[in-house]
Amino acid sequence: MTTTVPLSVGSGMDRVESPDKITGHARYAYEYAPRDVVYAVPVQATVARGEILTVDVDAVLKRPGVITTIWYGNAPKLAPADNPELSVLQSPRVSYRGQYVALVVAETLQDAREAARTVRVEYAAERHDVELRADHPGMYRPDRVNPNFPADVEQGDPDAALASAPVVVDATYSTPAEHQNPMEPHATVAEWDGDGLTLYDSNQGASLVRDTVASLFGMPPANVRVISPHVGGGFGSKGAPHPHVILAALAAKQTSRPVKLAVTRQQMFAVTGYRTPTIQRVRLGADTDGRLRAIVHEAFEQSSTLREFAEQTTVPTRMMYAAPDRRTTHRLVRLDVPTPSWMRAPGEAPGMFALESAMDELAIACGLDPIELRIRNEPDADPESGLPFSSRNLVACLRDGARRFGWADRDPTPGVRRQGRWLVGTGVASSTYPVYRRPSQASVRAEPDGRFTVRIAAADIGTGARTVLTQIAADALRTSPDRVRVEIGDSALPTASLAGGSMGTASWGTAAVRACEALLDELDRRGGDVPPDGIETSADTTEEIRGQQRFARHAFGAQFAEVGVDADTGETRVLRLLGVFAAGRIINPKTARSQFIGGMTMGLSTALLEESVMDRRFGDYLNHDFAQYHIATCADVPDIAAFWVEEDDPHLNPMGSKGIGEIGIVGTAAAIANAVHHATGVRVRDLPIRLDKLVR
Ligand code: MOS
Repeated sequence: MTTTVPLSVGSGMDRVESPDKITGHARYAYEYAPRDVVYAVPVQATVARGEILTVDVDAVLKRPGVITTIWYGNAPKLAPADNPELSVLQSPRVSYRGQYVALVVAETLQDAREAARTVRVEYAAERHDVELRADHPGMYRPDRVNPNFPADVEQGDPDAALASAPVVVDATYSTPAEHQNPMEPHATVAEWDGDGLTLYDSNQGASLVRDTVASLFGMPPANVRVISPHVGGGFGSKGAPHPHVILAALAAKQTSRPVKLAVTRQQMFAVTGYRTPTIQRVRLGADTDGRLRAIVHEAFEQSSTLREFAEQTTVPTRMMYAAPDRRTTHRLVRLDVPTPSWMRAPGEAPGMFALESAMDELAIACGLDPIELRIRNEPDADPESGLPFSSRNLVACLRDGARRFGWADRDPTPGVRRQGRWLVGTGVASSTYPVYRRPSQASVRAEPDGRFTVRIAAADIGTGARTVLTQIAADALRTSPDRVRVEIGDSALPTASLAGGSMGTASWGTAAVRACEALLDELDRRGGDVPPDGIETSADTTEEIRGQQRFARHAFGAQFAEVGVDADTGETRVLRLLGVFAAGRIINPKTARSQFIGGMTMGLSTALLEESVMDRRFGDYLNHDFAQYHIATCADVPDIAAFWVEEDDPHLNPMGSKGIGEIGIVGTAAAIANAVHHATGVRVRDLPIRLDKLVR
């Protein structure tokens, strides 16, 4: 135990599960095939609001292979749910188009699909309302916004400050609904064994799925096991269980057979969450030298009639820039739509598009370089709480990025650089994401052969979680990573927080380190001897996290974009993207770079492509597949680079890390919109930047 080994944290270790993935041994939820498995295919509502009158169950039962059809009229009763979306088939109400209204279970997938297609549901349809407008009479102020911030914050007298400011920007921005679309669609395989339920499920946190399902079925959590070793992306859509998980468990109970349920790509556009559209008014009041006097940021968003989900769109504006007088608000309207949910950087991503576009407009109004404007408004403490920042290196990111990108000799005049057909421009925007940490448990076992096994119900949704936990544990155990095996993705392991909110590594890593420290102490006490059956220690970080010192903790970044806009067609291409981030200690440069450039690519996608279009007449998002919902591919990103500045922050966690899963998407869309303005002189304030908005 006393040999010195080089530190693993900081090295670009390859993903520990890559051989499994490359050889096809890694199993995803839908690939589990219990004996006698049957297939469930849901039926979705074809009205956006109303009541189900009848489902013609008998006709469906005559179809080949059909075992049962479940709907409100014959569904087993569930315990009440905190999230009414999960009370599937418990009410005749239809709350949005695409909601599950019935489920067909059959011997084969083909039989189930064919039968589901023919299910006749009679509705009493009612008039629906699916249109988000800032002046909607149903707009109200929610009590809190996600995850738990006050809806409105006001300091000083922003109206008076705006009225007297020599320079004012007053602009309204909007962002569309977007769907997360992880590569692996949602899927659940459910199997009952007496009172015990096993779920093979694709999710961002097996412990939460276990607890939620147990509560709906009125069982102790210990009766439910959720197995999810490999997950093909989530982007928030797998953060909390969606109704299909409950449907699979219901169907398995009803048929006494294991049931497979895969949500199709098309179905995902109604039933697995999405990012709310937003309308945002930003007002900035400044002195002629660019120093902000007032910031007012108001957001208008939607939720469903079932449940309030209030995205924290203006929350990042509370801590970004100094200004004595400020107001940030959220208003929500409950429409006949599916409930919006988390999508990578909920709040920060749409909110910072508006704020960072407005900052660019202010820089132009003041005749100031946009980087200099941001530096002039750098606060010395969190403007809202007055707390010191644990570390804040936005300025270092902006300066380092400017140098790497070649910003210095930029001519700010819009619309004057031409390369053939292309108008070329550059833009910059700031990026930020809060540093969260949640209680988790972990255990570690010293095996007699000198190896270690770390256990924690963490989730690797493609981020490299398993790999960085291996590195963190190896360093904590002062051993090499090849002696450490990390078991994750199973609710039977010590309970862990979600892979969400960019807090996975910080939360799980803390628990793993504490468990490893306890193990080293125990080994010391025993003089280094490991008994034949090994030794195990565990940790629970609930107390440690409660005692967190008072700091404002955030990661920062600077995004730079160069774009070309076809002068005739308005076609926009991002020529270069460069991001510099300050995110604490980078645990694995290889997987971290993937997180950063993945987030930036998603930001490019937000800027130019992604848009779920609401069909007002049918009350549904009309683009339901990748032919119509466009997502950036590698070909859309010819030149992308992510860098980070060294940051040594002792106020975070034992690793000194900040989360990196979400910050890459934040600010990218604004940097691109700002570059489009620089290229063309056209300010696009409503995403995505389509060519019809550029050609006039
Ligand atoms: Mo992320 S949207 O917090 O899963």
